[in-house]
Amino acid sequence: MVVIRGATTVAADEKEEIRRAVAELLEQIGNTNSLNKDEIVGIVFSSTPDIHSYYPAKAAREAGFEGCSLFSAVEPEIDGGLPLCIRVMIFVEKNLTPHHVYLRGARVLRKDLTAHYNIAIDGPAGSGKSTVAKLLARDLGILYLDTGAMYRACALKAIGAGADLEDEAAIADVIRDIKLDIEYADGVQKTVLDGRDVSEEIRLPHVSMAASVVSKHPAVRMKMVEKQREIAGKLSCVLDGRDIGTFVLPDADFKYFLTASPEIRAKRRYDELTAKGHEVNFEELKAEIIRRDEQDATRDVAPLKQAEDAVLIDTSDLSVEEVLRLVKMRMQEMI
Ligand code: DC
Repeated sequence: MVVIRGATTVAADEKEEIRRAVAELLEQIGNTNSLNKDEIVGIVFSSTPDIHSYYPAKAAREAGFEGCSLFSAVEPEIDGGLPLCIRVMIFVEKNLTPHHVYLRGARVLRKDLTAHYNIAIDGPAGSGKSTVAKLLARDLGILYLDTGAMYRACALKAIGAGADLEDEAAIADVIRDIKLDIEYADGVQKTVLDGRDVSEEIRLPHVSMAASVVSKHPAVRMKMVEKQREIAGKLSCVLDGRDIGTFVLPDADFKYFLTASPEIRAKRRYDELTAKGHEVNFEELKAEIIRRDEQDATRDVAPLKQAEDAVLIDTSDLSVEEVLRLVKMRMQEMI
């Protein structure tokens, strides 16, 4: 069971305004947390004593939340408290990291949650950026967006279509109507390609190499970057990739560039893949990582590059916890 918090304010103590505000708050909580109505077990509202015109619980039922237990209560009158405010607690039968939602005048109640910010973590394969990005997003209660997974999905589609990976026009054709959804289940990103969960398949070495090839085509990058900017514009998130700090979000609030020696990076990928039962050859993986670095760093469009204002962290001799601590420390210094 997870509890999601939220609050909003109404412009006036009027029935229609209360119904609108409640419907908007519940809809946004649902969207931000990727919730289905049937995953909600109960909703408890409280409202400030200056609200008399309508029960928020009734407004919720009328907004289509009739399948769960609903309850409203009135808060005590607090000196200096925010007027005309409706608060909510949503009990959810799902294992997720809750994203609390504060709207309208209630944004002032939780400035820490409502400030919108993005964190860019770039670096080569195996530098530890995705591990750190995932943990950081979890600790901060914001989204993690794995941009590499998006290029991998394009590559998988191109492989499936038998297209020549080097042929930009052919690849542009293959991905013209791509249906690529990034979903979150239990706090983990799922990559859904044309309705199929491909999260595991896109990690296979031949897909890695293909992703590095197709991602150099401007037609592919433009399409993916547009999607990435759209998500990052709406929600606070940690994005990891190659060009986040330099190209996708040059104005990101915090930027990091993670690196490590090719030996160490190949060892990490080797351990990761063998732990999943894949048979891989260490020397081949290392050669492939070096080749991919070269390819990602020398392409014409948005190559792998450290942004001038990014904090460089060499993770070769650091544990994940040490890297995470360093990242958070630098964030504190920058605030
Ligand atoms: O981070 P990764 O190994 O999952 O990325 C797979 C490939 O996708 C990588 O070799 C280069 C490309 N990529 C990119 O060009 N830009 C990004 N922002 C992320 C990945």
